[in-house]
Amino acid sequence: DWTSDVFIDATIAELKEKLGNDKVVMGLSGGVDSSVAATLIHRAIGENLVCVFVDNGLLRKNEYEEVLHSYKDLGLNVIGVDAAQRFYDALAGKTDPEDKRKAIGNTFIEVFDDEAHKIEGVKWLGQGTIYPDVIESVSVNGPSATIKSHHNVGGLPDFMKLKVVEPLNTLFKDGVREVGRALQIPEAIVGRHPFPGPGLAIRILGDITPEKVSTLQQVDHIFIQGLKDDKLYDEVWQAGAILLPVQSVGVMGDERTYEKVVALRAVASVDGMTADWVHLPYEFLGKISNEIINKVKGVNRVVYDISSKPPATIEWE
Ligand code: XMP
Repeated sequence: DWTSDVFIDATIAELKEKLGNDKVVMGLSGGVDSSVAATLIHRAIGENLVCVFVDNGLLRKNEYEEVLHSYKDLGLNVIGVDAAQRFYDALAGKTDPEDKRKAIGNTFIEVFDDEAHKIEGVKWLGQGTIYPDVIESVSVNGPSATIKSHHNVGGLPDFMKLKVVEPLNTLFKDGVREVGRALQIPEAIVGRHPFPGPGLAIRILGDITPEKVSTLQQVDHIFIQGLKDDKLYDEVWQAGAILLPVQSVGVMGDERTYEKVVALRAVASVDGMTADWVHLPYEFLGKISNEIINKVKGVNRVVYDISSKPPATIEWE
């Protein structure tokens, strides 16, 4: 029978054997998968693991600072890279979802490669790939393989010539969380909702500007904080807000407004491959909607996404 303790002991022993005195470089995303994978590798080889955490300018509000701080608390050897402007430059004027994903994927590879080259004699690339990522990427008929390019799986540029180590590639998300808790990784990381590699860029429909990112960060923060305050966060597999390329007429005092619309999305799922929209309480939705419209400049309407996957996907792009 599978237990997290047996998995942890066996995996650390295997990693020690496989990696010996080799150096490993690994990109961290702030998510549970890469954090747990890095912690296992760190337990096996200590300071020979060098982690890179990139601020792509598309993270949630305050996320870069908070996550970097938790990684340091975990004892990980982590380099933080502020590359927001490089991502904004690469995204400028792009509106097609696949073009946006490719621009982000390519920029990430460039930034990451710059950092990896600074590490003397590195031999391995660590990845937080979990079992559903493996399936979605390799299956010929799998939806995401053809519909959306997942840049964080097998996204290894030829010139890096690193071998890949993926200690979690047999686990589902709940298994990863169990292992993370057994490793005493803080609940803020272990219980965190999944968040896509391309970040808020695929939740801002149309072109990306720093202003739009800031607007969406404020909306998203109100929604996520509200879920936490009302003890709904852990009931939901994933939640977030989407900034629509739509303006609608509203009224504020006796002024007519013509401002942005945001959609809120909250889904229940096991592995992200299928998902149902969550029946959040009307009172909660009403309160969050009011708070968003009152506090976030430039937004005058909030809608709730009630589509399931399939046929919709979790993300809008
Ligand atoms: P979809 O939108 O395909 O999303 O139903 C399924 C799950 O995958 C996440 N997602 C991504 N995660 N890189 C990631 O790391 C990506 O490019 C990416 N695209 C979607 C999405 O947030 C959901 O959890």
